[in-house]
Amino acid sequence: MDVAIILAAGQGTRMKSEQPKVLHRVCGKPMLSHVLKNVAEAGIEQRIVVVGHGAHQVTEVIMEPGLLFVTQQEQLGTGHAVMMAEKQIPEAGTVMVLCGDTPLITKETLRQFLSFHREGKYAVSVLTSIVQNPTGYGRIVKDENGALLRIVEQKDASPEETQIHEINSGMYCFKADLLKKYLHQLTTDNAQREYYLTDVLRLAVSDGERAGAFSVQDETEILGVNNRIQLSEAEAAMRRRIAEKLMLEGVTMIDPKTVYIDAEVEIGRDTVIYPGTIITGNTKIGEDCLIGQNCRINDSVIGDRTRVQSSTILDSQVGCDTTVGPYAYLRPGTKLGDRVKIGDFVEVKNSNFGNGSKASHLAYIGDADVGEGVNVGCGVVFVNYDGIYKHRTTVEDHAFIGSNSNLVAPVVVEKYGYVAAGSTITKRVPSGALAVAREKERLIEGWGERKMKKKEKKDE
Ligand code: UD1
Ligand code: CA
Repeated sequence: MDVAIILAAGQGTRMKSEQPKVLHRVCGKPMLSHVLKNVAEAGIEQRIVVVGHGAHQVTEVIMEPGLLFVTQQEQLGTGHAVMMAEKQIPEAGTVMVLCGDTPLITKETLRQFLSFHREGKYAVSVLTSIVQNPTGYGRIVKDENGALLRIVEQKDASPEETQIHEINSGMYCFKADLLKKYLHQLTTDNAQREYYLTDVLRLAVSDGERAGAFSVQDETEILGVNNRIQLSEAEAAMRRRIAEKLMLEGVTMIDPKTVYIDAEVEIGRDTVIYPGTIITGNTKIGEDCLIGQNCRINDSVIGDRTRVQSSTILDSQVGCDTTVGPYAYLRPGTKLGDRVKIGDFVEVKNSNFGNGSKASHLAYIGDADVGEGVNVGCGVVFVNYDGIYKHRTTVEDHAFIGSNSNLVAPVVVEKYGYVAAGSTITKRVPSGALAVAREKERLIEGWGERKMKKKEKKDE
């Protein structure tokens, strides 16, 4: 069996955070979750996470079926961290070791790295990259024939060794039995007084075992996040990747640099995303939609051919051929049907709004069940709150709610019920009835004229 051990016990001091480093998010997901997902998709059956600093928080957030956690009480180095998982290392097979703070590694690269390791029959393989600025990384030391000798940490390196630009990504594959053997031989005889996992490679090579270096072209893949500047770099690189993937799948982005889309978002073909839009969480958008400019959509599902402009949509469902906005606010629990219109300055919360229904301007629809073909006029308020409790309103199919009306919940407007403009409704409106609940209009003849005359007299 093949296993992966993901190191995530370090504190991440340079993040200056209350939160363990691996829980910091990149494109909406904790860094550690990105790594775990890609490891699983590369085909490794068993994943073990080594936790230490903030172990409780990490396990709580990351918990998923089949995942094993082991604890490293004291952080005595990367070699020591792997020792904590020794019981989980099988007798035979491959052990991949990765870090929880390299969110940009892809499943494709991990797959290629695994086959490199297996086909080369290496005892140890290390994933490397040749980078512009190798400062801080372990350097890959080779002999004159290009054979791998060892990895030297920056703090232990000679001046010549610091000139090496090929660096250790912190990702390895080991033959399981040999990893176990050499873990027992590690010492803390180095500048940092730590058990270095990298020494496994040196020990194996000096015993005549084969070691391989697999170099990745795209150095962003191995970007390790140690501070918030690198966090923003990882975010930018992943955002670019997400946008490119979506565009290759048939989504148009007018200006991908200004669009922020989380890793798990799905968007259908021929949908056009305008600038300034943020789409996050588990959002799913259908085909042939128009989204933006300046929309924020989180954890929502949107059907096909729907248009959303300058609006906020949170935890909601929107049907097909529907228009939302500009300047609409769909709050959690909103469910809009097909061919719906929610126009400017309309707020909807925890409500169902049936097929073909419309609220074209300036309304508040809260805690309501609105049927099909309903018209909600301008300035209508669903009065859902009595100061202590929230109540629901029901508006049945084809009802008409005139402008500037209040529906004081709990209340029902039955099918084809009509509410006259300016009414405050507190009682059930029966099917097909017209409810007028406002002061009758009075006419006072000649009032305007008399007023003008009075004014003229005064001015004389
Ligand atoms: C390590 C490598 C270095 C490599 C670099 C890549 C060693 C000795 N050096 O250095 O060659 O270039 O990663 O980023 O391995 N961790 C634990 N427990 C510990 C120590 C670390 O779980 O006791 C975890 C950290 O949380 C982190 C990972 O291991 O996820 C790497 O640790 P870090 O201290 O960042 O190692 P580096 O010094 O950067
Ligand atoms: Ca590091």
